[in-house]
Amino acid sequence: MSLKSKDLLTIEELSSTEIQLILDTASSFKEVSTRSVKKVPALRGRTVVLFFQEPSTRTRVSFELAAKRLSADILNVQTASSSLVKGETLIDTLKTLESMTIDALVVRHKCSGVPLMLANMTNATVINAGDGFHEHPTQGLLDMLTIKEQKGKIEGQTVTIIGDITHSRVARSNIHGLQKMGAKVRVCAPPTLLPAGIEKMGVEVYHDLDKALKDTDVVYVLRLQLERQKKNLFPTIREYSQLYSVTSERLKHAKKDAIVMHPGPMNRGVEISSGVADGPASVIDEQVTNGVAVRMAVLYLLKGEKGENNG
Ligand code: CP
Repeated sequence: MSLKSKDLLTIEELSSTEIQLILDTASSFKEVSTRSVKKVPALRGRTVVLFFQEPSTRTRVSFELAAKRLSADILNVQTASSSLVKGETLIDTLKTLESMTIDALVVRHKCSGVPLMLANMTNATVINAGDGFHEHPTQGLLDMLTIKEQKGKIEGQTVTIIGDITHSRVARSNIHGLQKMGAKVRVCAPPTLLPAGIEKMGVEVYHDLDKALKDTDVVYVLRLQLERQKKNLFPTIREYSQLYSVTSERLKHAKKDAIVMHPGPMNRGVEISSGVADGPASVIDEQVTNGVAVRMAVLYLLKGEKGENNG
């Protein structure tokens, strides 16, 4: 069994069967990272290009580790050190990379839709590592794997996503994925940080954090993305924190065994307190660990020997 598309661009386009396949494959790959020699030959001879045009720590490093653990050859192309700064277009950059016979391109870009545009212009596999406000599919997948491990199943869980939903590709990927896998999703934010028509995605909308947290199994905290906000969407960060920061006191409104997640990077003291981020309910480190396994699974299913898209 493999994935239908040659690319991974969104969770919206994945079926629940495909999501389950990725999560099961990721679970089986976790063992590789515990070996003294953390390597399998699944992608030997394949070339994976990491094309990151926006800052990243977790996603870029975990894709690189994932590709290395599958024995692929890796190239890093970043804006500051590429000919993009000399005025070369993205499409010419893609053609240049393609002429060197690459197999997969992992793309992060500030503009929504760039991975789709590149995928339509190349035979190489394109994997979206986060595009603008649109989607961050491997983040959503690693989050679902973490929930499945921590709670035993995704189906039936109440997941409350708190914070800057408007600017969050992570929220969009999680809303699509979690609902496909049978979870109930709530969003909680001031009205200015919620996109118009968010209810049409099937989520319950809250503006009051304490009410949103009632009966919640998974508390998912988003970073306040000040760098993406074009105008002031709330009076002050202090006021935002007073109303929406997940602190130990606020967390008492969720279920006793609720877990706390954050995609990183965190603004400690803004959207989450250090007490919660480092506390017993936090599974933030587990999310990062699962990032490597999920990215190994995605690369393997799209480019490994058994995949249909292995060219
Ligand atoms: N979660 C996430 O995408 O983190 P990075 O920006 O560090 O990759």
